[in-house]
Amino acid sequence: MSDKKIIIAIDGYSACGKSTLARAIAKHLGYIYIDTGAMYRAVTLFFLRKGLLIDQQIISNAEKLNLILDQIEISMKINQLDGKTETYLNGELVEKEIRSMEISSWVSKVSELQQVRTKLVSLQQQMGKNKGVVLDGRDIGTKVFPAAEVKLFLTADQMVRARRREKELLDESVDVKLDEILRNITERDRMDTERKESPLVRAADAIVIDNSSLTKREQFDAVLDIIEKVINKDLNA
Ligand code: DC
Repeated sequence: MSDKKIIIAIDGYSACGKSTLARAIAKHLGYIYIDTGAMYRAVTLFFLRKGLLIDQQIISNAEKLNLILDQIEISMKINQLDGKTETYLNGELVEKEIRSMEISSWVSKVSELQQVRTKLVSLQQQMGKNKGVVLDGRDIGTKVFPAAEVKLFLTADQMVRARRREKELLDESVDVKLDEILRNITERDRMDTERKESPLVRAADAIVIDNSSLTKREQFDAVLDIIEKVINKDLNA
């Protein structure tokens, strides 16, 4: 394969396996993996700790929000033991905390805020400016990197997604009921697609992959094939 570095944007619904795919592709290509959902989750954790999230409401006004956002510094570091990217909030490792159901239940609300999006989109653009990156999220191909060389849009049956997430959580000894997971996925899909700021929508030039009945391996091979064609296009032109 050529040395040409590109940007790979993976968008799609909640719990579609975007991060698993993105991580595997990044590892294979020697690219940096950027989990943008983790950034929205870290901001949500900060808001929760500051007592801003109460009764389904975000207690803040625009001015206060800017001051609060200025206090947040998010970074990603690679864990040297397992090679996985981990999220830090103001220097604190928060990878486990940001995956809780409490954060999952608030994160879509927090990500509706235009000021939050402006801050995180600019951070993501900064992180990916040298290319050689795989980003997963909801607005990567439409907003963060609209000129990404490869754009994928992942989808899968909601029950299939809920069962996969249940297994993941059980493997981590987190006890959560299937119907609670399904409700959370359905609600996040609704909020992410209906919000005013950068809603989740397939970019016109994104390739749709429904992975309901694909194994991880089948999906990985199909995606790698798409990427290799793009990377090698110039060489064969
Ligand atoms: O990928 P995830 O499930 O960890 O993302 C958590 C939430 O963050 C998701 O429900 C919506 C929001 N999000 C977003 O609005 N834009 C992104 N690029 C990534 C995530």
